[in-house]
Amino acid sequence: MRRIAVLTSGGDAPGMNAAIRAVVRCGIAQGMEVYGVERGYEGLIKGLINKMDSRSVSDTIHRGGTILKTARCPEFNTKEGREKAYEVLRAYNIEGLIVIGGDGSFRGIKDLHDDFGFPCVGIPGTIDNDLAYTDYTLGFDTAVNTVLNAINNIRDTMTSHDRACIIEVMGRHCGDIALYSGIAGGAEAMLVPEIPFDLDALCNNMKKNIIKGKVSDIIILAEGVCSAAELKCKIEDKVPVSIRTVKLGYIQRGGTPTMADRLLAARCGYRAVELIKNGNLGARVVGIRENKIIDMDITEALNMPRIFDKDLYKIATLLAQ
Ligand code: ADP
Ligand code: F6P
Repeated sequence: MRRIAVLTSGGDAPGMNAAIRAVVRCGIAQGMEVYGVERGYEGLIKGLINKMDSRSVSDTIHRGGTILKTARCPEFNTKEGREKAYEVLRAYNIEGLIVIGGDGSFRGIKDLHDDFGFPCVGIPGTIDNDLAYTDYTLGFDTAVNTVLNAINNIRDTMTSHDRACIIEVMGRHCGDIALYSGIAGGAEAMLVPEIPFDLDALCNNMKKNIIKGKVSDIIILAEGVCSAAELKCKIEDKVPVSIRTVKLGYIQRGGTPTMADRLLAARCGYRAVELIKNGNLGARVVGIRENKIIDMDITEALNMPRIFDKDLYKIATLLAQ
């Protein structure tokens, strides 16, 4: 009888509950005992760990956030902190740990394995979509759709007033939320950290848009470039249009997960449990590539360089004419 634990770590993301649900139910189906750790690595160090059953994850698939809560835990960056966590895992006879989180959380389980040889699996849970080894991370699709709904609403009122709007979105140092939501939302510009910012080009395009008779000017700004307020200051004296700013903030982190995120969660949770069941695990991560679920060594995954989709960016630019 294998006994496994699951936790959520770092920034939360819609779909984390669906992934927890998949781990619990697939684990039980494989004859395992599944333990839930509350509040990420902080809870692991403190021993906030309880056995879960199928009913523990009832009525959760549609909920954003994480029923296990999450936390950031600088102590886990230290070997002393990880040693405390390891002792908790041993005390509960846990034989494998599944962590749902982003690259920081993955560095945590890599270190846990490097320090103690403890078997771990990472499920990519972050709205940022900033993990190179997987096409998509849990929460990204939901976050983009949340931004898309906001763009639709903002476009209505900007059109009524012949205004431009700078919409600041999350993503940390990654521009995918801005790029994908900008294309889907028909934005006039998408500013991402991966492409050098050209102030003159932006202002010239905005002036051309006025001449073309564009009824609104929507600029999607990834937070990794600068803030909406900073960008407004840079352009407001250069273009003859009234500009408003919106920082979408934390609405991008919640909300009911989309079908895509729920399906990704189920498939990743299943694969994570399979990896532990089959043993000889080491430290691995699961993900999706060309709609196929993959798993790979965590060090290899974390060392993969992230390649920005310049073809998609080119399409975005062409469509914004
Ligand atoms: P995310 O997983 O969403 O990227 P963070 O970067 O905040 O979120 O990382 C979440 C937690 O993972 C941190 O609070 C810390 O406990 C742990 N962590 C992050 N980086 C490392 C690291 N290099 N080594 C060990 N633990 C880490
Ligand atoms: O990593 C997910 C994320 O939402 C980023 O897009 C954002 O910059 C960051 O977390 C915000 O961190 P916090 O939740 O600590 O404010």
